[in-house]
Amino acid sequence: MRGGGGLRTRVKTARGRTAQSTRWLERQLNDPYVKRAKAEGYRSRAAYKLIELNERFDFLRGAKRILDLGMAPGGWSQVARRQLPGSTVVGIDLLPVDPLDGVTILQMDFMADDAPERLMQELGGAPDIVLSDMAANTVGHPQTDALRTMGLVEAATDFAISVLRPGGTFVAKVFAGGADSTLVALLKRNFTTVKHAKPPASRKGSVEWFVVAQGFKGRASGAAGE
Ligand SMILES: C[S@@+](CC[C@H](N)C(=O)[O-])C[C@H]1O[C@@H](n2cnc3c(N)ncnc32)[C@H](O)[C@@H]1O
Repeated sequence: MRGGGGLRTRVKTARGRTAQSTRWLERQLNDPYVKRAKAEGYRSRAAYKLIELNERFDFLRGAKRILDLGMAPGGWSQVARRQLPGSTVVGIDLLPVDPLDGVTILQMDFMADDAPERLMQELGGAPDIVLSDMAANTVGHPQTDALRTMGLVEAATDFAISVLRPGGTFVAKVFAGGADSTLVALLKRNFTTVKHAKPPASRKGSVEWFVVAQGFKGRASGAAGE
């Protein structure tokens, strides 16, 4: 996606605004994805990451049940429902999420013991797709941030492997160039294809990547843990 050719908006440094927040504001005001999200009624620019991942890997087609882990403010769930109006979407986040047509919203910690059961109760059957855009709140220490987010990714992976229907897809945000080798090995044992991607909507400066695992082999293969 191109910049749209408009004039760049500059933000004057106001009193009380840090240089960092001035840069953030300037980036938001000039970001073509932010403008497009506003025009197209998406709650987040993150929606375009899922749209672009799906354009490349085509996993949404035909899906009936979708789980959206770390859903707030709801961009990915909106994409799922717009592309698959008949689908059942259940999302979870620590943060409150405004109601979305056709989407069940759980405000709770995915890491809570009862979260998996609650998600599955609401979904009413095995998901075709488990999406995770979860990221831990950053504390500004790169190694700590990466470790905490990897903890979420690992939990999401274990969960996906234990609930997906055979043939299903798992998409997750990972940090620093990709999933680590143990996680990739686990995914490769359980899915036919495992790819990494950085969609154009993912900011170049961010360390965020996505792993897309397709063709879940099913639990009967005995490959889950090993
Ligand atoms: C990048 S945002 C998701 C954006 C979303 N995909 C969209 O399109 O609007 C990441 C979210 O993960 C959530 N999150 C982080 N840790 C979580 C946890 N343990 N349980 C549930 N949600 C969590 C955060 O609260 C945050 O809202």
